[in-house]
Amino acid sequence: MIYFDNAATSWPKPPGVAEAMLHFLNEVGANPGRSGHRLSVEAGRIVYQAREALAGLFNVDDPLRIAFAANATEALNLALRGYLRPGDHVVASSMEHNAVMRPLRALAGSSGGRQAIALTVMPCSPQGFLDPSRLEAAIRPETALIALNHASNVCGSLLPVREAGAIARRHGCLLLVDAAQTAGAYPLDVEADQIDLLAFTGHKALLGPMGTGGLVIGERVDVERLEPLKRGGTGSRSEWQEQPDFLPDKYESGTANAVGLAGLGAGVRWVLDQSVPVIRRHEVELAQRLIDGLVSIPGVTVYGGLDTARQTATVSFNIAGLLPSDVGLRLDEEYDIMCRVGLHCAPAAHETLGTFPQGAVRFGLGALNTAGEVDMALEAVDKMARSASSIIS
Ligand SMILES: Cc1ncc(COP(=O)(O)O)c(C=O)c1O
Repeated sequence: MIYFDNAATSWPKPPGVAEAMLHFLNEVGANPGRSGHRLSVEAGRIVYQAREALAGLFNVDDPLRIAFAANATEALNLALRGYLRPGDHVVASSMEHNAVMRPLRALAGSSGGRQAIALTVMPCSPQGFLDPSRLEAAIRPETALIALNHASNVCGSLLPVREAGAIARRHGCLLLVDAAQTAGAYPLDVEADQIDLLAFTGHKALLGPMGTGGLVIGERVDVERLEPLKRGGTGSRSEWQEQPDFLPDKYESGTANAVGLAGLGAGVRWVLDQSVPVIRRHEVELAQRLIDGLVSIPGVTVYGGLDTARQTATVSFNIAGLLPSDVGLRLDEEYDIMCRVGLHCAPAAHETLGTFPQGAVRFGLGALNTAGEVDMALEAVDKMARSASSIIS
């Protein structure tokens, strides 16, 4: 079986991830940060190790500036709903995932007579790229935030986050980056890239389990202004009836997904051991092989810039005469290839690429895929494209 759905969730996980989760369940088990006994202390240590590994990966000075969340969606909602106020202006791109677009659209819709935020969605090119000078031209005095997808989950195109970081500094606003598709697969450095808020998910290229993710909260973020999504028990300052105002407890109420974070810690340590540049090189090689093969098959249209230096290893395409849903079904049933078809929770991105509303077939390659798998998938697509063209003619 070939698993090419890593852009949705990575699988299989590298050695150590399931073991770390089993170890937690079988040997540790207690609630982190709640009690003083040694099992609780050990649980807290395991959670902190995951925080430390992520801080190393993203070059965050203080691991306590990483607030864990259930996934990237929750982290993005915390950043957007927690930071923005009525009258603020936000600039986003037309390549955003609905995890950014839907909260922004809700904040921009005036409800109950309340003043809403103003939203500018910057159009990207039909290849999925954003011109930073056009982004800068959209900034207004009341712009509070630039919210950018680091890489499209549809065609993999990389957006100019480093340039956006410099623009945000020049204009006194913050930069929020949705790194769901890049964390673990592409170098990310919150200092060098000047990222103020970085939302990540644990179950994609960080190779951890579902139910893990978080938000890096940079030094320039006014933590007093960033409201938590939920309030409750934190295990700290139990004598207070008000929410703690310190990091990360302000944003981490309720019992943590410690089993998941044990697995995420192991996934991130595997990424650090391999090193992101090595993983990136491997994925670029695979993506290049896949793109070269796909563009040479008559009847196949590949979306995006077709330039592996400017994209992740996520590649979307269509076969003339076939619906993406039929291609996905046949790849699964006839060729044992798992991928994702349709609109990928990113309708605006598909509109940008010209693939709305039918969508596309997406191959999301990951660190554990091989060149042999790419070749087998190309053979399958070639056969399907040939049979479709013989039916059309
Ligand atoms: C670009 C992007 N942003 C956000 C998300 C949401 O991630 P999660 O499902 O982990 O919340 C995804 C997931 O597919 C994504 O690709």
